[in-house]
Amino acid sequence: MSDVPTYILNDGTTIPAVGFGTWPMKGSEATRAVLSALEAGYRLIDTAVNYDNEREVGEAIRTSGVARDEIRVTSKIPGRHHAYDDAIRSTHKSLERLGLDRLDLHLIHWPNPSDGLFPETWSALVDLQKEGLVTTIGVSNFTQTHLQRIIDESGVTPAVNQVELHPLFPQQQMREANERLGVRTESWSPLGKRQAPFDEPAVRRPAEKYGVSPGQVILRWQVQLGAVPIPKSRTPERQRQNLDVFGFELEGDEVAAITALGRPDGRLFGGDPDRHEEQ
Ligand SMILES: NC(=O)c1ccc[n+]([C@@H]2O[C@H](COP(=O)([O-])OP(=O)(O)OC[C@H]3O[C@@H](n4cnc5c(N)ncnc54)[C@H](OP(=O)(O)O)[C@@H]3O)[C@@H](O)[C@H]2O)c1
Repeated sequence: MSDVPTYILNDGTTIPAVGFGTWPMKGSEATRAVLSALEAGYRLIDTAVNYDNEREVGEAIRTSGVARDEIRVTSKIPGRHHAYDDAIRSTHKSLERLGLDRLDLHLIHWPNPSDGLFPETWSALVDLQKEGLVTTIGVSNFTQTHLQRIIDESGVTPAVNQVELHPLFPQQQMREANERLGVRTESWSPLGKRQAPFDEPAVRRPAEKYGVSPGQVILRWQVQLGAVPIPKSRTPERQRQNLDVFGFELEGDEVAAITALGRPDGRLFGGDPDRHEEQ
């Protein structure tokens, strides 16, 4: 059993406090990385149709020797599969590629509000959950407005909203909105795709004080915000390091100093905070 703490989600299932990202790894690199991540103790694995690696991720999960029930596998429905029937078909295809009979967490990858179909995609997810093909359903890159719309129309609140979140883009408002609605925040690009401010005193000082790396300080900050980071690393050593963030605790002012590194232009993609189209 992995000793990573877990949160209870709004549907009563659990999610590990830190997970493993698989984009942009493909082919044997993806299989190798997921195998070593599972060996290091990761039990939440993040993939998507758009990553073109579900087959390889599934192979690692099925051959790892880790009990299937211990692993939470996440995939995501892409924008081109937003119509109801396409979303159902997309999910069956994901399961086929992964070689699994259920997804533990399935997300709408982007709301793509310009095509107006995300409420339809959400009702497909609600039905897939009823059918037992997906255990937990959630969304990604949704604003408060998008969340409220699907909650009002379906009566079902997503368990998770996976959003960009790192020190340069700490997402205070979105985290608060998720929390108010009972939605757990997951952080994509938690290390800012390596562009995180590793050398800033707010990160470097706690790293020296606690004898950890700057990356570990940033991931610990995420954990203390209550967000679930899903760092990607292809190297076993960094994978282990990124999961080893439960042996120290940042002081309140250290958490605040990292949050204060946020910048209006800190978003990695597009720089336009109102753009919620697939990219
Ligand atoms: N929902 C969405 O729209 C969305 C969008 C983007 C990403 N995601 C998900 O989020 C996951 C993570 O995001 P990401 O891959 O974009 O970025 P990230 O996890 O913030 O950063 C990954 C990069 O950081 C390096 N790295 C890993 N650990 C490190 C450490 N301790 N110190 C310094 N560098 C380190 C990795 O290099 P090495 O591999 O060489 O270690 C890699 O270059 C993705 O893999 C994907 O699953 C979701």
